[in-house]
Amino acid sequence: MKKSYYSKVSEILISKEEINEGISKASKWIDNEYKDVNEPVLLIGILKGCIPFLGQLTTKLEIDVELEFMIVSSFKGTQSAIGMPEIIKDIDSDVKGKHILLVEDIIDSGYTIKYVIDKIKERQPASIKIITFLSKDGNRKVDLEPNYTCFSIPDKFIIGFGLDYKEKYRNYEFVGVLKKEFLD
Ligand code: IMP
Ligand code: MG
Repeated sequence: MKKSYYSKVSEILISKEEINEGISKASKWIDNEYKDVNEPVLLIGILKGCIPFLGQLTTKLEIDVELEFMIVSSFKGTQSAIGMPEIIKDIDSDVKGKHILLVEDIIDSGYTIKYVIDKIKERQPASIKIITFLSKDGNRKVDLEPNYTCFSIPDKFIIGFGLDYKEKYRNYEFVGVLKKEFLD
């Protein structure tokens, strides 16, 4: 444990090694899911939390993919999205007839991903699926489940591997629970 940031968490929920293994499995799921699709699959990452997950995932994929990104407003601090989210940055290309895979960092209530999926469906893609790095399965408030979840986690506020608290800690190589003294 050489990195100083290990001292800021009370618990490591998912280690770097477990993450690597989980993402390898996820990449195999994607390769298999789209094996009969002959054009590139469009991965749409929801910024900013998707970055480490999407980065590691894409390098393990064997199928052809294209990348796009969206920024969706959701929440500040330890509060998840409440009510209606909003698209702050939309994707740049036309998705009509494309096979789309939405890539999320975490699904909590599900409000954010439900909003995004409804917006994209209006644009008539050939198909749309969701993969998420983390899921708080017990917190769902909408009738929508991801097609693939790397890790289901309990209802704890976590940081690391893309997940932030007030924009910090996204760079941590593991998923952990921030010590109370660092919450304000
Ligand atoms: P949802 O709309 O409630 O599903 O919330 C999804 C968004 O809330 C995610 O994209 C994250 O940005 C954020 N979020 C939910 N839980 C956590 C957490 O434990 N740590 C950091 N961000 C979280
Ligand atoms: Mg997010």
